[in-house]
Amino acid sequence: MNKQVQQKETPKVVKGLEGIYVATTEISLVDGENGRLYYRGYDIRELEANGTYEETAHLLWYGKLPNKKEYDTICKRLINYRFLPDNLLQMLHLLPQGTVPITAMRTFISALAAWDPWAEDNSRDAELENAMRLTSGIASLLAKIHRIRTRQPMVEPRLDLNHATNFLYMFHGKDPSPEAAKAMDSFLILYADHGFNASTFTARVTASTLSDMYSAITAALGALKGPLHGGAMEAAMRQFQEIGSPENVEPWFRKAMEEKRRIMGIGHRVYKTFDPRARILKERARALAEQSSEPQWFEIAEKLEQLALSHPYFQERRLYPNVDYYGALVVYYLGIPPEFYTIMFALSRVAGWAAHVIEQHADNRLIRPRALYVGPEPRPYVPLEERS
Ligand SMILES: CC(C)(COP(=O)(O)OP(=O)(O)OC[C@H]1O[C@@H](n2cnc3c(N)ncnc32)[C@H](O)[C@@H]1OP(=O)(O)O)[C@@H](O)C(=O)NCCC(=O)NCCS
Repeated sequence: MNKQVQQKETPKVVKGLEGIYVATTEISLVDGENGRLYYRGYDIRELEANGTYEETAHLLWYGKLPNKKEYDTICKRLINYRFLPDNLLQMLHLLPQGTVPITAMRTFISALAAWDPWAEDNSRDAELENAMRLTSGIASLLAKIHRIRTRQPMVEPRLDLNHATNFLYMFHGKDPSPEAAKAMDSFLILYADHGFNASTFTARVTASTLSDMYSAITAALGALKGPLHGGAMEAAMRQFQEIGSPENVEPWFRKAMEEKRRIMGIGHRVYKTFDPRARILKERARALAEQSSEPQWFEIAEKLEQLALSHPYFQERRLYPNVDYYGALVVYYLGIPPEFYTIMFALSRVAGWAAHVIEQHADNRLIRPRALYVGPEPRPYVPLEERS
């Protein structure tokens, strides 16, 4: 019976939805052939060179860059939401000390909804407010989860710092250098949105049931957690650490090629040239390395990149460094431990996820694809005592 139904419909299964367009979006354009990324028509290179994460978030949520008054307003509101509810702060201490940071974050983002009076409201105004609460909340939560894990006193948010600088201040308990603050802001701008990647699609599927923004972003965090998505930055850094020294890059690379190992942070499903974000983050990483007592990690990465790019294997397959290759180095030099790298991604991408929830709710259609059934033909139920 099932076979007949399937034959009538002649369904075509596209595994992984590769190459399938499932919706329209006005939020970001990924131009993989030319190595360009645009947020609502603006090239990320211009946004990174001239703007801030706050401006980028405004652009993603409202569809336009803010004027001065709008910019001041969004900055003030984001600052307000840096302060987390007291009861939520108490909850942070209740998870076991060794809880994986992204697991803790998924839990607390979900919990934050309980203190948000507009959490269940899917109107545009409420969702814009929730987007701000979530964007500030995730940064404060990340800093606090780290302080608890390392048994250090909590650091209160500052009112005089921008989003990126305040995050580093709350994380480390001291003012970052201007280069570190700029690198952090760049990182946040560059990871903020990237089409229908797995976590964004997850957020949209959840939102399409008319569920709320907190549920959508909690689900997105679950999707991001997987090593095929948010885990590549950590894997890239661990790879540089495994190489250990600039002198070891060449023998390591030769062995990796013999063993057919993948170089972490290289290759991309969409970009068939240099990922534009990688180019920028490379320069941010270089600047941080020059100030650091551990410049070798940048040297290792650059040497490995040169070896890969000049090797026919990578040239034939059009494999280039992706965002996570130098993103890993930027967050390393910012003093973030590797187990937090996936949440660092979320710290930025939360703005994109929120924009996608708003866009989904503005013109909703339940996302409900079909699966081609290939299981057993219909068969009679066998009572328990008669089963062998
Ligand atoms: C990102 C990634 C999953 C994209 O994969 P994809 O578009 O599905 O490409 P494929 O896995 O089909 O790879 C195409 C070819 O390039 C090779 N390849 C891809 N990435 C490679 C890498 N990092 N190192 C070595 N070879 C790689 C594959 O082995 C394959 O070779 P083949 O044609 O001989 O079989 C892949 O490049 C990868 O695993 N990169 C490393 C992990 C990473 O950096 N992820 C972060 C992405 S932002």
